[in-house]
Amino acid sequence: MIRAFHHSVPMIIVMVLCCVSCSDSTAPIVEQCSPITMKLPSGVSLIPFSAHQSFSQPVFELGRALFYDVTLSGDASVSCASCHKQEFGFSDAGHIVSKGVANESGMRNAPSIVNAAFQSSFFMDGRAVSLEDQIEDALRSPNEMYATDSNVKQAVMQSETLLQLWNRACGQQEISVKGIANAIGVFTRMIISGSSRYDAFLEGNLSALNAQEQRGKVLFEGKAHCVTCHGGPHLSDGKFHSTGLHTHYYDKGRYYVTKSDKDIGTFKTPSLRNIALTHPYSCFAKP
Ligand code: HEC
Ligand code: HEC
Repeated sequence: MIRAFHHSVPMIIVMVLCCVSCSDSTAPIVEQCSPITMKLPSGVSLIPFSAHQSFSQPVFELGRALFYDVTLSGDASVSCASCHKQEFGFSDAGHIVSKGVANESGMRNAPSIVNAAFQSSFFMDGRAVSLEDQIEDALRSPNEMYATDSNVKQAVMQSETLLQLWNRACGQQEISVKGIANAIGVFTRMIISGSSRYDAFLEGNLSALNAQEQRGKVLFEGKAHCVTCHGGPHLSDGKFHSTGLHTHYYDKGRYYVTKSDKDIGTFKTPSLRNIALTHPYSCFAKP
């Protein structure tokens, strides 16, 4: 389930992802190395994994099942996929802000998590420094999945399918929230967009963008200065900037993390990948 959102594949990168173990397991199970063929964004040659959890197929499969499983949440109603919907580039649609358990509204709308593996801080205000910390936060947050550690662990213990996947991925290792977050992290890191027409154009296929799109690219990189912040393979510099919105919008952004006045209204530059699929730009957004 490695989804390419746009289907032109000018160059295939074969990554050999192997090795194993669940989090800090003392008894790793060794899996056969198998090459995975996928197209990474132009200019990128590696998917970074966390120091605590490398890629293996069984961990990926466990992570995928957990991502779509509502029983992890406090009232068994919400999964990661409830807000990060694949059809909208793994973002939310139809709401101004996302709704978690008991229809509780948070402060922001769920952004796309495509290419999250390449980011160095998470959330619009950068309050999580690793993807796995961010995932634990989502599991516990009252506005998102509002789960206790026990809810999360019980979800695995009480499901025959999840338990089987856990045992295949992690052997005898005790079921833990960290292990669960790490597995979801492996799945999330594999949600990659790298085969857009934009990537193809950068790689030398000059007919990948039409004339109007090429004129837009010239403006984007020139007069309009969009690349200052939305540059590089991820169309984001990963840094925090103010676009002036805070003067008529309640969210103070990065200020909540640093408490420094200069950060009022600054937000992490979002990637523009799959932007046409995400709210409010998606013309087919459904509530
Ligand atoms: C109730 C809706 C909701 C659920 C459920 C949810 N998220 Fe999110 N997610 C959000 C919102 C909203 C944000 C942005 C919040 C912010 O910036 O403060 C976010 C941010 C993220 C980010 C950071 C993106 C970035 O660019 O910084 C990642 C990664 C992510 N979520 C993954 C997950 C995973 C994995 C799960 C399941 C464990 C999950 N989310 C569950 C709503 C949700
Ligand atoms: C100074 C840095 C900076 C520049 C220059 C910049 N942006 Fe942004 N952009 C941001 C930040 C930060 C956000 C998120 C916060 C916000 O919306 O204010 C954002 C948000 C966006 C969004 C909304 C993304 C989403 O997920 O909803 C779009 C679309 C966008 N920018 C396109 C552009 C275009 C097109 C240009 C050039 C005309 C441009 N930006 C110039 C920093 C910048």
